[in-house]
Amino acid sequence: MEKWTKLTKKEINKRVFSALAENINFYEENILGIPGSHLDDKVFYQDAPFLQDAPFLTSLINNPNHIGCHTLGKSESFFHGTHQIEKELIEICSEHILKSEKGEFDGYVASGGTEANMQAIWMYRNYFINTKGAKNEEITIICSSDSHYSMDKASNVLSIGIRKVDVHENDRSLNPVSLDELIKQELAAGKKYFIVVANMMTTMFGSVDNVDTYLTALKSNNCKFKLHIDGAYGGFFYPFTGVESKLDFSNPHVDSVTLDAHKMVQAPYGTGIFLARKGLIQHTNTKEASYVEGEDFTLIGSRSGANAIAVWMILMTYGWYGWCEKIAVLLKRTNWLAEQLDKAGISYFRNESSNIITIKSEYLNEEIAKKYGLVPDNHHAAKWYKVIIMDHVTVERLIPLVKDLCELNEVSFA
Ligand SMILES: Cc1ncc(COP(=O)(O)O)c(C=O)c1O
Repeated sequence: MEKWTKLTKKEINKRVFSALAENINFYEENILGIPGSHLDDKVFYQDAPFLQDAPFLTSLINNPNHIGCHTLGKSESFFHGTHQIEKELIEICSEHILKSEKGEFDGYVASGGTEANMQAIWMYRNYFINTKGAKNEEITIICSSDSHYSMDKASNVLSIGIRKVDVHENDRSLNPVSLDELIKQELAAGKKYFIVVANMMTTMFGSVDNVDTYLTALKSNNCKFKLHIDGAYGGFFYPFTGVESKLDFSNPHVDSVTLDAHKMVQAPYGTGIFLARKGLIQHTNTKEASYVEGEDFTLIGSRSGANAIAVWMILMTYGWYGWCEKIAVLLKRTNWLAEQLDKAGISYFRNESSNIITIKSEYLNEEIAKKYGLVPDNHHAAKWYKVIIMDHVTVERLIPLVKDLCELNEVSFA
């Protein structure tokens, strides 16, 4: 597997400014047919001297539109320069992070994890309709009870059913008996096609689904299925923890993945990433998008090119090894918190390759949850509260929480 190498600040600036220079220039060229322009110059500085050293802000002001998908066919030639940066970003994510073969993947920067998951489910629904003559009523989404609610949105918007596999309360693993029963019930009800979404770190627990549990049950019931990985939370974390993962493109059953750069990558909001094996995204082409050069294979339509540039800049600043170091620091801090909770006899869930620790509600109270901004699984009847060890969550910031937990649970803080 290739590992992308970092660039210096100077190299990053040069690359972004030369990509912007390849786009059309709304200031100097006579572009008359586009319903878009640079940002309003009465409101946003266009010529502040600091912009010469600020490629992201300059990209925002230049306002390139990245409508469509730039890894296949044609794209809007007006913004060709920065489309190439997005293409490079998709290559880094699919090849260097998720172990695909070179040039084997399509993808784009979506508005977020929700859109990328909906794009995947839309793509597979249409795949089953186009290639098997399936009807909506014959298709079911399968995911776990810990899956993100974007799967429910997809079910609602796309008019297909959804079933959720139970997970075990304490270790959050998929219950194979529940899965097998659910599949048998769906088959008996006339369902023929399954869109399965496995989690690479869930929202609440950071738990990672054993994809073989899904594959064993689907195969033993002779199901026709497509498998998507929701790595919105874990996609920029789990692959860097050194674990042998079956949730990437080295697994031939995995056909698409969602990543989300506005979580662990600390990129601006609007930076979900959708990746799919070549030959699939054609099922979401909207031919009616005839005024868009290259048509439109995405759910979103117009979107800011500055978002793709921001994610590319961040990844290029670190390089593979720098990114591994960043993740290692977060894991180390998470280990520290886990050790303190162990010493205090406080029960929690944690996947050992994750930076989320989810504490059972009986070990804390609402006052502590509020004081430290801990998020419950359910705002009406919390059973768990999560702590996420992000960049700003240092051990110094964790110490007061541990002290308060120790005091509440009448144990001494060592
Ligand atoms: C696992 C998972 N999937 C999907 C999403 C949805 O992402 P977004 O809020 O970017 O739409 C989230 C958000 O927390 C998530 O944790």
